[in-house]
Amino acid sequence: MLTGKKILLGVTGGIAAFKAAALCSQLVKKGAEVQVIMTKSATEFITPLTMQALSKNPVYHDTFDEKNPRTIAHINLADWADLVLIAPATANIIGKMTAGLADDMLSTTLLATEAPIMLAPAMNVHMYAHPAVMRNMSELVSRGVMMIEPGEGLLACGYTGKGRLEEPETIIQVVERYFNNEQKRHQLLDGKKVVITAGGTIERLDPVRFISNDSSGKMGFALARVARQLGAEVTLVVANTQVAPPAGIKVISVESAQQMYEAVLGLWSTTDIVIKAAAVADYRPKVINPTKIKKQGQTMTLELVKNIDILETLGSQKTSQFLIGFAAETNDLEHYAMDKLRRKNCDLLIANDVSVSGAGFGTDTNIVHIYDAQGLVTALPLLSKDEVAMQILELTAQRLGGANQ
Ligand code: PMT
Repeated sequence: MLTGKKILLGVTGGIAAFKAAALCSQLVKKGAEVQVIMTKSATEFITPLTMQALSKNPVYHDTFDEKNPRTIAHINLADWADLVLIAPATANIIGKMTAGLADDMLSTTLLATEAPIMLAPAMNVHMYAHPAVMRNMSELVSRGVMMIEPGEGLLACGYTGKGRLEEPETIIQVVERYFNNEQKRHQLLDGKKVVITAGGTIERLDPVRFISNDSSGKMGFALARVARQLGAEVTLVVANTQVAPPAGIKVISVESAQQMYEAVLGLWSTTDIVIKAAAVADYRPKVINPTKIKKQGQTMTLELVKNIDILETLGSQKTSQFLIGFAAETNDLEHYAMDKLRRKNCDLLIANDVSVSGAGFGTDTNIVHIYDAQGLVTALPLLSKDEVAMQILELTAQRLGGANQ
């Protein structure tokens, strides 16, 4: 499975660096071509000579030690790799990647590469749980970096808990699974035109105030990222979000439900798949005050009028399109999901119970139940939003009779 795969192995400075030797050796035995970059701290734990002997390639640890005058090593390695695997990945390299710092050979190469990146973090249990590290990892995941979660157990520092580098055998299984899926993925939605809505609509009251909701855009953006990986031509219709849309995807920015409706409808007749992950306001203020509303009295009543239901309208006009709706619920998930699926004539309905921790608004993870006209298709466990997106889109490709089904 790894024959001929070019793996750039980054080794950073933690006690688990010794496991990088076994990892490198097993990757080579599986047929991968491995080149190694070590940070200076990593060389305190394990020698470059060991990694050179195991990888059968020169090892890089100094940005300015150019081994071939005809090339620039960090650009060459960045372009060469099919996958960049960092094991162990310390809190320091995770922080530098998040901030976009490039002050040594590894961080500089990481900035220059367009190859997929996989991190196997290893550190003290408290460092791993630190809010800064958590936030950095979450940011990297939202940029598409893959994480191999550390295991739990007795750590070298004496603490017991999460932070131990996954065993080389497990890391290799993840790498093999990645390449296996990657091969299948590329053609699954080849040439399909996909429109995805993301974020929360804004319904203005006056020039400085609006009604909105907690949608961050992460679920819609994960779907867009993965759909593109699967070969689709993706357009994002984006309302208010907390994070930036994935780079390189066509974005139409909107504010209100009405604007979202117009944008989606404009694309509808030439679209194969529409996914409505956006949280759309059901009502809007009847009047948008042209000037700032002034404070008066103890109470204030807003009159709201119903917005058009975009999904329901699309469902009523469906010809060949595959239509996927979402349902954000806090109770009676199945009942409401099936009602929405039927009323809005969806092919699939993705229901998330947004009252459950780790699911729904703002998180990097989700827990979803997928329904079709016959009922529950699958109930997925807690997964990253990218993994949820992959499951939804693989099922979609299957239903459309995709190339590899
Ligand atoms: O953006 P994140 O922070 O990652 O959060 C993700 C999410 C929770 C927003 C997402 O997973 C989700 O559930 N999106 C749908 C939210 C929603 O509006 O659900 P709903 O049950 O109110 O609406 C049902 C469906 O009808 C949705 O597909 C919605 O886009 C659509 N709708 C609703 C109202 C309306 N006027 N027009 C619509 O098209």
